[in-house]
Amino acid sequence: MRIGILGGTGPAGSALAARLASIGYTCVIGSRSKYRSMEIRDKLVAKWGDLADLLECADNPGAAECDIVVIATPWDSAATTAQEFAHLLEGKVVVSMANALVRVGHEFQPLVPPRGSVAAHVQAAVPKCRVVAAFHHLPATELGHLGSPIDSDVLICSDDPEATEVIAEIVKKIPGCRPLDAGELSNATAIEAFTAVLLQLNVRYKTRVAPKLTGIRGDPRETKSAAAPVDAAPVSEIPQHRDGSPS
Ligand SMILES: NC(=O)c1ccc[n+]([C@@H]2O[C@H](COP(=O)([O-])OP(=O)(O)OC[C@H]3O[C@@H](n4cnc5c(N)ncnc54)[C@H](OP(=O)(O)O)[C@@H]3O)[C@@H](O)[C@H]2O)c1
Repeated sequence: MRIGILGGTGPAGSALAARLASIGYTCVIGSRSKYRSMEIRDKLVAKWGDLADLLECADNPGAAECDIVVIATPWDSAATTAQEFAHLLEGKVVVSMANALVRVGHEFQPLVPPRGSVAAHVQAAVPKCRVVAAFHHLPATELGHLGSPIDSDVLICSDDPEATEVIAEIVKKIPGCRPLDAGELSNATAIEAFTAVLLQLNVRYKTRVAPKLTGIRGDPRETKSAAAPVDAAPVSEIPQHRDGSPS
């Protein structure tokens, strides 16, 4: 399986390419400039020589021809980039990892893009693709430290359960990562916005955090068809405050 990364020359895309290559996937680092892509690929191969056969460079259209395509551009160009290559992406699983954030002084604040999230905006731009939101919370530095596992959950959401499954299978192979099916693409709003909280914690505690959730045993996707937990009330029965939040 070949995985293409649009905007794969940045810290996040290049680290993801190296990490995915380290678990056996052929990764094509895409860029608006094939030369920049060559430069980044050369740097990665200089560091991780054994990945030479699995890392390729290309322009963005070359990366968009892959079986699965990740959009790793800044958030405000994710949807336009997807739209530019819509004809090459049709029918494919397209991963959106962008977070719409702004730094105001020492604070990170989430922005609300059109349709509530970058991922939803991308899905609207390429309606014939199966957009999956994933990888938002993995810090590029840890992603690129191939010698160390990444101790993190990876929240994945999509309107296409099969597409979620495809990405979960990939995440499962990344040492230390646990894929969690976080439901439909509408949840990308919360997932993306939560990144601002994580970055804020990084600043406060002078570290790089990654999320791990407690209370989930086994693979939640395997229990999906099982009966709902006995203490889970249907939404209509959950007492709510007047503003609609659960009491
Ligand atoms: N950095 C992290 O730790 C991290 C972690 C998780 C998720 N993310 C998300 O992943 C995405 C990439 O992060 P990053 O830090 O790698 O970003 P970045 O360095 O700002 O941008 C990545 C690449 O996008 C391309 N690009 C820049 N402006 C563009 C435009 N207007 N149109 C099309 N392509 C453009 C550039 O590649 P070319 O010039 O070669 O085309 C650039 O190298 C972001 O949306 C971010 O929110 C980041």
